[in-house]
Amino acid sequence: MNKIHQLLNEMLAVYWQAGIQHRSHVAVIAAEGAALLAAEMEAKIADEPETIIRLQNRLLDLGGKIEFTVKQPDIGMNLREALQKDYELQKNARIGLNQWAETAAAEHDATTRILIEEILADEEEHLSWLEQELDLLEKLGEPLYLSKRM
Ligand SMILES: [Fe+2]
Repeated sequence: MNKIHQLLNEMLAVYWQAGIQHRSHVAVIAAEGAALLAAEMEAKIADEPETIIRLQNRLLDLGGKIEFTVKQPDIGMNLREALQKDYELQKNARIGLNQWAETAAAEHDATTRILIEEILADEEEHLSWLEQELDLLEKLGEPLYLSKRM
């Protein structure tokens, strides 16, 4: 497979997997009564379906075929686990997106590189939000944190 086609399919697999994980975590967090946090999380992931559409369109525009396997999402059982697992996912996404942008550059595909860099900027925001929430959770402890996120 063409390197760019392969890269876009890898990204699609990650985004579908992440989407399942994030959506499940919104439900887990809402079920714990943290309605405010669930709503904020929903807002943070609202751009991701659009990201999938952009990746699909780029792949098809380049004459590629949508062809990937989605890995098992890692779904937390409670609020703390949900935040931690999303944080891990976002940390890895940051590394992956930087590597994908470099691959696109090495393949002389600036349009794909720019697309990836735009996605990376969104994901860095998502990462720093999760970092802040986890920090707050540590500082306040779970009962107080929860009371502020209800
Ligand atoms: Fe994200």
